[in-house]
Amino acid sequence: FHVDMDAQETDKGPYPYYMLKEIDEQPNVMRKLASLYTEESGKPNVDAELINAMKQADRLYIVGAGTSYHAGLVGKKLFEKLAHVPTEVHIASEFAYENPLLSKKPFFIFLSQSGETADSREVLVNVNAHNYESLTITNVENSTLFREATYTMLLHAGPEISVASTKAYTAQIGVEAILAKALGEAKEQTIAEEFDIRQQLGLVATGMQAIIDEKDTIDDLAKKYFVPANRAFYIGRGIDQTVSLESALKLKEISYVQAEGFASGELKHGTIALIEEGTPVIGIITQKRTANLTRSNLQETESRGAATFTIVRKGLAEKDDTLVIPDVNELITPLLSVVPAQLIAYFTSLNKGLDVDRPRNLAKSVTVE
Ligand code: AGP
Repeated sequence: FHVDMDAQETDKGPYPYYMLKEIDEQPNVMRKLASLYTEESGKPNVDAELINAMKQADRLYIVGAGTSYHAGLVGKKLFEKLAHVPTEVHIASEFAYENPLLSKKPFFIFLSQSGETADSREVLVNVNAHNYESLTITNVENSTLFREATYTMLLHAGPEISVASTKAYTAQIGVEAILAKALGEAKEQTIAEEFDIRQQLGLVATGMQAIIDEKDTIDDLAKKYFVPANRAFYIGRGIDQTVSLESALKLKEISYVQAEGFASGELKHGTIALIEEGTPVIGIITQKRTANLTRSNLQETESRGAATFTIVRKGLAEKDDTLVIPDVNELITPLLSVVPAQLIAYFTSLNKGLDVDRPRNLAKSVTVE
């Protein structure tokens, strides 16, 4: 198949690796989504037929692989909180062969940067065979998943070349947030009506830039603690737990540090046995209700020798926090909390002298099941 790419968009320019370029592009992608998918009044600008189809559904099923699956986990929170619709998230390769029990009126959302992931396509083929309606959210116009779904929304993130997905993850969450707001409004949910997604995406763009501007601090942290590490943990609760999974995947795939993302309260039920002297553990703390719980879970690992760090939303920050990220609405904090984790993975890989953009054993788009 043929993909149109602007020469400038595919040029690395002054960047040593595409991954850093793509991390840097995220503030602009957020601004672009705000201007394309919302009106100046703040109202979402989304296909009315799509919203109507979603409104008829009694349950949403989000399907994706890897990072796209992780973006789906954030989507579940957004659709359930803003639109009050029960939402399930499925790993494409599992869904394809497990035939999960469906609700009476399901609606399917496929998340895929490339639009070519074979596992996701297998699910879509089944969905179409049953005449269920679907939406593909992808970065690649005319890709297979784009062509075969009932509705489509583009990520408008520009080509993503690095194997490690960064701007596609944040773009997927941005689009899901706009969609959840639109659906919530159509369902007259007050929380959706009060959620100013256009303004929030503006804050996110500025916030991302502020984090990116501090990248030297993250480089130092990576050199000192992550380059020598054999394993590392990201922990968090709720939406922060979903970001811990994505953060760990980034670190694993490009720096080969064995990393796990964990629900912070679950660590002490077994996994804490893996903590040794100097094992890096990063707590992601953006939710007021659970901030202190994650702090005490982090403390538990520290007392067993872990080197602990925090990625904390400003409003919840304390004196000794490691990386403080700007405040945005608690529903969309993953758009900011993931950025330091992307940079930790990048600098760990870079400082280990690895090929950041082309890690071993991996392809950008997985077209076999
Ligand atoms: C993420 O960094 C990965 N390289 C990988 O998990 C990727 O997200 C997955 O293969 C899904 O790809 P897609 O979004 O193109 O469907």
